[in-house]
Amino acid sequence: MIVLLLGSGGREHALAWKLSQSERLTKLFAAPGNPGIAQYAECVDLDPLHPDSVLAFAREENVGLVVIGPEAPLVAGLADLLRENGILTFGPSKAAAQLEGSKGFTKDLCARERIPTAAYARFTNAEAAKAALDSFGSPVVIKADGLAAGKGVVIAEKRARAEDAIDDMFGGNFGSAGAEVVIEEFLTGEEASFFALTDGKTVVPFGSAQDHKRVGDGDVGPNTGGMGAYSPAPVLTPELEARAMKEIIEPTVRAMAAAGMPYSGVLYAGLMLTADGPKLIEYNARFGDPECQVLMLRLEEDLITLFLHVAEGRLAELPPPSFSPNTALTVVMAAKGYPGTPAKGGRIGNITEAEEKGAKVFHAGTARSQGGDLIANGGRVLNVTAIGADIGEARDTAYAAVDALDFPNGFCRRDIGWRELARQRNG
Ligand code: AMP
Ligand code: GLY
Repeated sequence: MIVLLLGSGGREHALAWKLSQSERLTKLFAAPGNPGIAQYAECVDLDPLHPDSVLAFAREENVGLVVIGPEAPLVAGLADLLRENGILTFGPSKAAAQLEGSKGFTKDLCARERIPTAAYARFTNAEAAKAALDSFGSPVVIKADGLAAGKGVVIAEKRARAEDAIDDMFGGNFGSAGAEVVIEEFLTGEEASFFALTDGKTVVPFGSAQDHKRVGDGDVGPNTGGMGAYSPAPVLTPELEARAMKEIIEPTVRAMAAAGMPYSGVLYAGLMLTADGPKLIEYNARFGDPECQVLMLRLEEDLITLFLHVAEGRLAELPPPSFSPNTALTVVMAAKGYPGTPAKGGRIGNITEAEEKGAKVFHAGTARSQGGDLIANGGRVLNVTAIGADIGEARDTAYAAVDALDFPNGFCRRDIGWRELARQRNG
């Protein structure tokens, strides 16, 4: 099987690593890929946002399966084009990817299906949105409707901040993502990420994780794409997971199929574990990054077999995916300046020494300099990932590897896993 993997981050490096372990793989292409992915794949200079060139390449190279990593090509309809042309594809259609691409779409679906989520209202102009603020109390959550690279959410403690956010979004600061705004009730509880695989009919749990969104130790400072993660998330107990499947994931998959837009791929639910049970914060139409990295370390299945069964609508033929009971943990090494403008070009050394500590180092934002050195080429640069009998062991291995790296322009949080470690200490 010839596979084409689209994307260039740590998520895609983890997918490439796992795909490359499959005996079914004859050749892996990645577009555009990165120097880490290049250890397993031939990286090709194709832009996933140019669907015609992806299709032409897939045809020319006899690609049997396309795996789409990031959300933007999904929301743009790449999976539709590939499927219409008979190419098996892992990833939802444009219509189904609205679950990530439009917050209003997802909230309306939740309302119709009685899926537990925060109370909300949708607005297309600032005046009406501001007038509604009183009915939401404080804090209140203001969201740009469309894709905003994780930046389109403002939690406002004060009314003035909420009004500013509304003006910002309608004022065009979020591009077309802000043409519509959703106001939400603020939910309290602990957050967990929950993943499900579905071919549009059958749906199976695909692991849980918790990530660390703030840039600083102790969860302070600005939001990021994620500074680290671990899996499983014990806070999502088997009982809560069963509720999330029954009350949130399964009704969503059923409703999407009934509406003529079956969802095929991985469905990533951001959950708030409230006093009333799990509530949906948001859906993503792809794996989380860096959550994918910890899931792949625990997955005990052939990834090509799984993805093919999803793409072919035959997921019901497989037993539920099996994961190691061990805990995987990943520490994100970012370039100084992130999540503002990151310092590019910092030299990275000692990856081999780091991996000798027992960790796997996934490349997220790296490049080769003209001289062939590995250098930083993005905000999040490396994902130092380890698995252990418990979270403490995984954490110790990951940080031993972090300390073995030579990346003077990089930084990381030193407290990944703290919630769970504290819970275990407090018994
Ligand atoms: P999102 O991009 O929708 O995942 O939102 C980013 C973050 O904002 C989430 O991970 C939550 O921490 C927070 N958030 C979003 N919606 C709510 C809500 N209704 N109540 C409380 N926190 C929220
Ligand atoms: N780590 C959060 C995300 O991938 O959306």
